[in-house]
Amino acid sequence: MELTQRPRRLRVNQAMRNLVSENVVQKESLILPLFVREGLTNPVSIKGMPGVVQHSSESLKHEIDRALALGIGGVMVFAIPEIRDEMGSEALNPDGILNKAVRDIRAQVGESLIVVADLCLDEFTSHGHCGVLDQFGRVDNDRTLEIYGEMAVLLASNGAHMLGTSGMMDGQVGAVRKVLDKASFQDISILAYAAKYASAFYGPFRDAVESQLQGDRKSYQQDPSNIKESLREIQLDVEEGADIIMVKPGMMYLDVLHAASQVVNVPLASYIVSGEMAMVEAAAAQGLVDRERAILEILTCLRRAGAQVICTYWALEVAQLLDRK
Ligand code: PBG
Repeated sequence: MELTQRPRRLRVNQAMRNLVSENVVQKESLILPLFVREGLTNPVSIKGMPGVVQHSSESLKHEIDRALALGIGGVMVFAIPEIRDEMGSEALNPDGILNKAVRDIRAQVGESLIVVADLCLDEFTSHGHCGVLDQFGRVDNDRTLEIYGEMAVLLASNGAHMLGTSGMMDGQVGAVRKVLDKASFQDISILAYAAKYASAFYGPFRDAVESQLQGDRKSYQQDPSNIKESLREIQLDVEEGADIIMVKPGMMYLDVLHAASQVVNVPLASYIVSGEMAMVEAAAAQGLVDRERAILEILTCLRRAGAQVICTYWALEVAQLLDRK
């Protein structure tokens, strides 16, 4: 055989493969989503997501210690209040569960990792929508923006480094940026869920936050069949001042992530959502895939598609795996 081109030469051993590796997952780029539930004394496990729990304030503290020790990039806080109402009023309670959790976490971590607060109303409303409703029962975009603005200032004053605008309201990034700047929070960054799809893969999350939602979010989250629409959403968010752009879900939307990476200069984030995690865990539990290899492969693929930042419930475990390698 007269083969001059032998790509296998660069795969002869692990050292050679490492030498030419194009994409490496680093633990500093991982964000761990966390759930804290008001009034809990013991953590409560979540169906389909082994190792993921609704935290009590005590167990949350312990989890943050682990995150600090393992050196991941950040945590993203979701809170489940005791009381819900039409307007999601608890979100604006300075001593409500979300503000309190953010305050406690920030006091614990200082500048050692990034505290991202979820900025959305769905955990706080009695109807479960990401915004407030108008007299016809439709999600009222502009009234919701006013509430997001108030939430943003509260979360920033309680120590959040970054706010995750996940509600898919039009103009949310611009509205939040404007009020933050006015309140002298110029340095608080915005992680914009720019392209967030109305996905079937949020199932276990809805249990995790005890979602009250009837119906769906299709009037604000995107249609999975579209990609141009995502590029438009992403462009708008960048124009409105987004610091990082997120594409969500993660595993199924690599094309969107990649397309975004070709057109924007801000860092990109991807979120391996609850249902995606649950699929892998279910397959692994049946011995169908090698769990650790599958997890690392998924993260590597997200990176290859263009993600700098990866939100994953596996963050702590992946940090441990990478340390061991
Ligand atoms: C809504 C929100 C959702 C998720 C994160 N933020 C659910 C939804 O839009 O219904 C899903 C995350 C996951 O499934 O892991 N604020």
